[in-house]
Amino acid sequence: MSTVLVLNSSVLGDASASRQLVAATVSSLRKAEPSIKVIERDLASDPIPHFGPDAAVGVRGGEIVNPAQTAARTLSDTLLSEVREADTLVIGAPMYNFGIPSTLKSWFDHILRPGIAFRYSEAGPEGLLTGKRAILVLSRGGLYSEGPAASMDSQQPHLRTLLGFVGITDITFVLAEKLGFGPEAREASLEAAARQISSAIASDHPEAA
Ligand SMILES: Cc1cc2nc3c(=O)[nH]c(=O)nc-3n(C[C@H](O)[C@H](O)[C@H](O)COP(=O)(O)O)c2cc1C
Repeated sequence: MSTVLVLNSSVLGDASASRQLVAATVSSLRKAEPSIKVIERDLASDPIPHFGPDAAVGVRGGEIVNPAQTAARTLSDTLLSEVREADTLVIGAPMYNFGIPSTLKSWFDHILRPGIAFRYSEAGPEGLLTGKRAILVLSRGGLYSEGPAASMDSQQPHLRTLLGFVGITDITFVLAEKLGFGPEAREASLEAAARQISSAIASDHPEAA
């Protein structure tokens, strides 16, 4: 049985494009493999605390001397155990001010833990959370995959770096762009993204197509 870890971070609830597309992704995965286990985290309604001085000790290492540091380490342990259990990560990431939501960044801040998620050796950094695939749904009001705003995209490259650093390099990016360009552009973008999801999952599970 495969395990899928689902992270949502949009603050827009039912109006969210990324939430809609993440749900479509999970439903396609379930159709291909009905027995999947799904672990869900809603980082908008149940946010991970910002990374502060206690998390620096609890997550990045050092002698724990207070309950807040213990709590940070326990939270990091829990989040990491969810990632380690997962074969597939499905992450919904809206573009907020050219990057990822701060709630999703906080999640990564608690995941990138030395000795567990990555380590440094003489050969440089090595990711330790290997053998997983990730499907990332990136929603944006504007157009960044081409054109004059391409260099302003701090969302897709950042996510590739964060996941790659911990050893997750098998990544499918589903882009829902131009969502703010009017209803027709939005509809076309959502349809194209849904097609991308179906074909990515069908190519992994040809038997279910
Ligand atoms: C706080 C905030 C900041 C945003 N910043 C950007 C931005 O920098 N570039 C962009 O193209 N769209 C931006 N948008 C638009 C969102 O990316 C767009 O509404 C997208 O659909 C959000 O994803 P969601 O529908 O899953 O919530 C922003 C929206 C919000 C609420």
